[in-house]
Amino acid sequence: MANEGGKRRAARAAMRYVEPGMIVGVGTGSTVAYFIDALAERRGDIEAAVSSSEQSTRLLKARGIDVIDLNASGELALYVDGADECDPQRCLIKGGGAALTREKIIAAASRQFVCIIDPSKRVDVLGKFPLPVEVIPMARSHVARQLVLLGGQPVWRDGVTTDNGNWILDVHNLRITDPVTLESAINQIVGVVTVGLFAARRADVVLTGEEP
Ligand code: A5P
Repeated sequence: MANEGGKRRAARAAMRYVEPGMIVGVGTGSTVAYFIDALAERRGDIEAAVSSSEQSTRLLKARGIDVIDLNASGELALYVDGADECDPQRCLIKGGGAALTREKIIAAASRQFVCIIDPSKRVDVLGKFPLPVEVIPMARSHVARQLVLLGGQPVWRDGVTTDNGNWILDVHNLRITDPVTLESAINQIVGVVTVGLFAARRADVVLTGEEP
């Protein structure tokens, strides 16, 4: 079960990685909301943030933190984001909040990816949490059929449109023992924008916010 204390502790611990003058890449979700609160306490100390979602952009701006475009920032020194599951090799499932594409772009453009989770997100094998896949709307059924061939059970997240105007399929019943290979296979399906497996570019550091 998710625990708010664990999320808050993990978010606070990530502040150790924030250095003066940095442009910080900021993920999305309830754990990241705690990180944004902590970052706001040092807003005079950082240059700006690059945001992974409209939701995080609103939170950052409401707390007085400048948000700039990734095209203007160049490569980032630090990206901080949550996850839905994390395996012992620091591979992740992300996208529960439908922000996976922008999250993956910022992770790819960052030298260090610090993942903040509460201890309940740690798993031995990824896949209990349904794997989100962002798809171009007209390709939804085609992609779903291909995902079935890969052994999954895709379910359309009806009513959800991503910040990029696309749809999400949540793939159930996967036991992901080779995340790098599955990430690559799903990326090859025509119509897939992004798969929420972060394995080729996984977290560099995972902070779990255990009780002291
Ligand atoms: C957003 O699309 C996700 O990748 C989030 O990072 C993930 O769902 C974790 O969210 P919570 O911190 O709210 O659990």
